Amino acid sequence: MAGTSQTAHWSSRWTFIMAAVGSAVGLGNIWKFPYEAGQGGGGAFVLIYLFFVFVIGTPVLVAELSLGRRGQKSPIGSMAKIAKEEGRSPLWSLIGWSGVLGAVIVLSFYSVIGGWTLSYMFDAFAGTFSGMDAAAAGAHFGGLLTNEYAVIGWHAAFMGLTMFIVARGVEGGLEKAVTYLMPALFALLIGLAIYSSIAGDLAATVDFLFKPDFSKLTFDVMLQALGQSFFSLSLALGSIMTYGAYMTRDVNIGKSAVIIASADTGVAIMAGMMIFPIVFAYGLVPGQGPGLIFATLPIAFGQMSGGAFIGGAFFFLLVVAAITSSISLLEPSVSYITEKTGANRRKVALMIGGFIFTMGILSGLSQGDNPVADISIFGRSILDAKDFLTNNIMMPIGGMFSAIFVGWFVSRKNMMEELAMEDGTFRIWYFLVRFICPVAIGAVFVSIIYNTVTG
Ligand code: PFF
Repeated sequence: MAGTSQTAHWSSRWTFIMAAVGSAVGLGNIWKFPYEAGQGGGGAFVLIYLFFVFVIGTPVLVAELSLGRRGQKSPIGSMAKIAKEEGRSPLWSLIGWSGVLGAVIVLSFYSVIGGWTLSYMFDAFAGTFSGMDAAAAGAHFGGLLTNEYAVIGWHAAFMGLTMFIVARGVEGGLEKAVTYLMPALFALLIGLAIYSSIAGDLAATVDFLFKPDFSKLTFDVMLQALGQSFFSLSLALGSIMTYGAYMTRDVNIGKSAVIIASADTGVAIMAGMMIFPIVFAYGLVPGQGPGLIFATLPIAFGQMSGGAFIGGAFFFLLVVAAITSSISLLEPSVSYITEKTGANRRKVALMIGGFIFTMGILSGLSQGDNPVADISIFGRSILDAKDFLTNNIMMPIGGMFSAIFVGWFVSRKNMMEELAMEDGTFRIWYFLVRFICPVAIGAVFVSIIYNTVTG
């Protein structure tokens, strides 16, 4: 990206795609998707997830990119500007607000998991996983979570890296880094998935991930899959809108969105193919939750020859994938505050980053063995509660309102001009964004409420 102000633009279509894929591909694909699929019963979750990604998420992705490019500002600024241009209520800027605040909340726990990943990278390179069995891997993860200094220290390191990149601006280093490191991550993932398939239990994995058992498809699982599809595509948190603002007019938004969504989904499925063969071969529990990759992958790395290097490289690339996402979570609030106050970008990045780091301390402690871990918010730990609030509530609602805004409150002519799609493709997209997205997201909510009320 050439510069960091709102008028800055990606230097090519390729760098935009890599940055957007970098935002989309992250801990959500490799850490979260497998454990959510595990908790959601496997195949049924995967199927409904795919439906949500391509039928709901991708049209919303197109909507958010076009809002960003049309507004050319921070998500709050862009929404306010477009609402005004279209003669609509300034309240539509609430979509921008919800995104920017949601991104702050997500980053305050995303960075904690990013910290775990950093710690695992050093452990792997140091050969700590050598010869580990399932019990030792579980104990190692537990040891990290209950070591408060380590958890906060690694969280600080991860947040520090994120702030450093955002403070310096995204040009140069990041643009170059994503173009090399993202393809390397893909290659390593494919390699590891092949290794796991050979060394682990492939048959059980295929059964689990691709044979849907519809009795597992509860409303909760559907909401979880909907939230995860939005999380994975980086929707409704202002990130994609902000990156859209840096797009040049010659980039085709529709085609880019399909590439981004396909790459993102490919990585998630690959992550499942890498993790579940080991889970089943070692008799681990697929639905064990957020610790899944941390308790399974060390076993594979500990058993394979050259595992210290391959494991270290894997966690390194996971850190990179996480950082290319975390900077996109910090960027919306930084772009808003710099736009609003004209303050120096470095100072703003440090200030907001410091605030998010502080908020994140509680998320980190909530997974350990201390008084903070005993705090329960509607039966959830602090980290899980933040995840639930953003993933299952703010993101679907934010996405629904972006679809409604673009579908019903921006003129059709302006959308056609922004997207420059072929007529038929535009019509399909417009239909999805006007009717299917709001109705489907709304229906999942109504079902949840009905289900809760009727018990
Ligand atoms: N899409 C990222 C992931 O899957 O890890 C997380 C994320 C980044 C979510 C940016 C939302 C966002 F705005």
